[in-house]
Amino acid sequence: ASYTFGLVGLGVMGRNFILNVADNGFSALGYDLDEEKARSLREEGGNPDKVDATSDLGTFVAGLSLPRKIMLLVPAGNIVDRVIEDLLPLLDEGDIIVDGGNSFFRDTDRRETYLKEKGINFFGAGVSGGAEGARRGPSIMPGGNREAYAHLKPIFEAASAKYKGEPCVAYLGPKSSGNYVKMVHNGIEYGLMQLTAEIYELLKTAGRLDNPAISDAFHRWDQDRLESFLVSISATILKQKDDLGSGYLVDKILDKAKQKGTGKWTSQNSMDLGIPMPTIDMAVSMRQLSALKDHRETLDERFGDLEVPEWTPEDLLPKAEAALYFAFIMTYAQGLHLLTEASEDYEYNLNMETIAKIWRAGCIIRAELLADIAQAYGANPELPNLVLAPELTDAIGSCLPAIREVVAYGAKYGISIPCLSSALSYFDAFSSGRLPLNLVQAQRDYFGSHTYERTDQEGIFHTEWPKG
Ligand code: 6PG
Repeated sequence: ASYTFGLVGLGVMGRNFILNVADNGFSALGYDLDEEKARSLREEGGNPDKVDATSDLGTFVAGLSLPRKIMLLVPAGNIVDRVIEDLLPLLDEGDIIVDGGNSFFRDTDRRETYLKEKGINFFGAGVSGGAEGARRGPSIMPGGNREAYAHLKPIFEAASAKYKGEPCVAYLGPKSSGNYVKMVHNGIEYGLMQLTAEIYELLKTAGRLDNPAISDAFHRWDQDRLESFLVSISATILKQKDDLGSGYLVDKILDKAKQKGTGKWTSQNSMDLGIPMPTIDMAVSMRQLSALKDHRETLDERFGDLEVPEWTPEDLLPKAEAALYFAFIMTYAQGLHLLTEASEDYEYNLNMETIAKIWRAGCIIRAELLADIAQAYGANPELPNLVLAPELTDAIGSCLPAIREVVAYGAKYGISIPCLSSALSYFDAFSSGRLPLNLVQAQRDYFGSHTYERTDQEGIFHTEWPKG
């Protein structure tokens, strides 16, 4: 037994991650049912002392030093349970299994409890950054047994992305906290992606900008406060010519967005925990709405398009930038708010500063803004919601006129920018000391005797309302 780290599942992510671990000085052994995948890793690895692979599970487990550290990078769902069952009879007490996939957090809790009884430490660790991240340094979000994490720490810290030298991995909390944080990361990811797409639409429709011009704008923004992976790749995507025909590839891509479920889970769970996150909800809804293309086309013909007057790019571009920055802040605020609540409800004991820090590099939602967010939580670890952070008041306030204009333009001329507008509505509602929900309470009391509280007296009240 000589390898320090074991990896099950030599698909693109697994293969890239094990090579990354090996490059960072930890000998690693890979396992895949498919001998072809094992062989190809052996070839690419070059040096079997550093990295080797097998398609025999017994050889794999026997080849790992104790306590075994075995990471699974297999598709979420039943496969994880099956791999665990296959491994179990071969493991020793104290061994560690890490699920690196996008598993549903309740599955992780179930697996952790089950494996604890058998003396095995189970971790759910979100890994973000796609194939490139896995190879060059992802952001890793591990949750599980704190003591057992000591065995994983040096490996994960070496393999993770670095932000100004700081590793983008940290022990996050017990049980499914790592998977949960990754789930919310993905909810934020959905929001930022949809927002970027809406700005692209606005620049195209109102600004009459072509793909290279939008790409240039995104590229410039990415040099400044909007520096982020998603803005940066959007700049690159918009420049890509179509190999199969003329023009730009982005114009040929069907406008139906698929999803694997993590964004939807985030929205679903936010409803359970009572945390408002309309921008993320809307981003999930937009993927669902995008699938209804036939109906969209029917209604497009029926209602037609409005004439959109040109908004001069000189005037539009800075406003679009500010609107996007504002909406990015609101999206992080919503996701982090959910994490704050989940930390209490699920006893994860999360540290929000740490989470913001490990998102600064490697992951899909990495952005310069996260450094400011980390600072805000560093200054006040009990911050209930990012919008309340004094550090962000100026940034939010200075973007308000721009986002109002952008949203008004979209509403007036029928440009679909629902995430931008929900980010603004979220802020407007959140910053309203008085909302019209007094009428909602009165209606509830009217038809259901649900009672209400008063602004001027303590107690619970009910009125026998006159019948309309
Ligand atoms: C990441 C991503 C990744 C996710 C894809 C696909 O952090 O690297 O979040 O884990 O699987 O983005 O997600 P959808 O198919 O749901 O868009």
